[in-house]
Amino acid sequence: MLGYSDSDVDQAVIRQMEEGVIFSLPHQLEIEVSEMLVDMVPCAEMVRFGKNGSDTTTGAVRLARAYTGRDHVAMCGYHGWHDWSNGVSGRNLGVPQAVKDLTHVFEYNNIDSLHRLFKDRPGQYACVIMEPMNREWPQDYFLQKVKDLAHANGALFIMDETITGFRLSVGGAQQRFDVMPDLATFGKAIANGYPLSALVGSEEIMQTLNNVHFSFTNAGECLSLAAAKATLTKIRDENVPAYLEQLGIPIPGDGHPAWRHLNIHNKTLFMQEMHKRGILCLGTVNLNYSHTKEDVDKLIQALNEWEGAELECEPMQTGFKIR
Ligand SMILES: Cc1ncc(COP(=O)(O)O)c(C=O)c1O
Repeated sequence: MLGYSDSDVDQAVIRQMEEGVIFSLPHQLEIEVSEMLVDMVPCAEMVRFGKNGSDTTTGAVRLARAYTGRDHVAMCGYHGWHDWSNGVSGRNLGVPQAVKDLTHVFEYNNIDSLHRLFKDRPGQYACVIMEPMNREWPQDYFLQKVKDLAHANGALFIMDETITGFRLSVGGAQQRFDVMPDLATFGKAIANGYPLSALVGSEEIMQTLNNVHFSFTNAGECLSLAAAKATLTKIRDENVPAYLEQLGIPIPGDGHPAWRHLNIHNKTLFMQEMHKRGILCLGTVNLNYSHTKEDVDKLIQALNEWEGAELECEPMQTGFKIR
């Protein structure tokens, strides 16, 4: 989120490298970064670290199963490569049927689709896990409705903030939309590219982790924790999400201004044409703190210049189409 080679982050990593990478006992940095997360993220009272987003979404689901004594999971969005979530994707070769049968998908901004899941299996859901936002904005208090419905059915509400974390606001989407989950997961932006993820949540639920196996050789690896400390400090003190949001407003497409989805039909051609104009763009525009208004102007000019392109722009509402 800060951009490549951020010197504050990289200097923090270099200093830590001189002291050591991984230790037998938890390093003080684990406490320091945990305390930062507890201060920044509304639902965070306790924290555990992993390396990938999949580590922490899987940890959250296992924790929810342990806490509720139930097996079934309702999910919406992408949550990683592990069996419990990958089983319901279109690319699920190798996932046992018994595992696939425990995960059920509902649709974003469609509360009836979640109602139906609960109706079909009353008292069997451990949790509802979802991305708080992807290319669509939540409509009609959708996130609050999901939370209420989960709780009414005795299930935990988990926000997968692997992408939205620290991007939609300093405290993530949960702060931006003022809906507090029981558990939340963070990754990607947390350490500016160094491998780290975090599972956070209410103390009461997180205490159950004492009896749940959630442990990795490299979870307490200190270079990424040093990177996270420097990254989170900058995101918080310089309100990076506010900068990115304001910077991204003129970019056409779906979703949040700092993470625009362009509706591209021919992605390869699009990438080729953007590349010719000096821009690497894969179909989403993920702004970072090193981007400036000039970069955004250059992108918009490239989109407009593209010979044969037809752009229909309605910022914040619909995407534009390129034929
Ligand atoms: C919302 C969300 N959750 C979880 C994951 C999985 O993270 P990872 O690839 O680091 O395991 C991703 C990865 O793209 C993601 O976008």
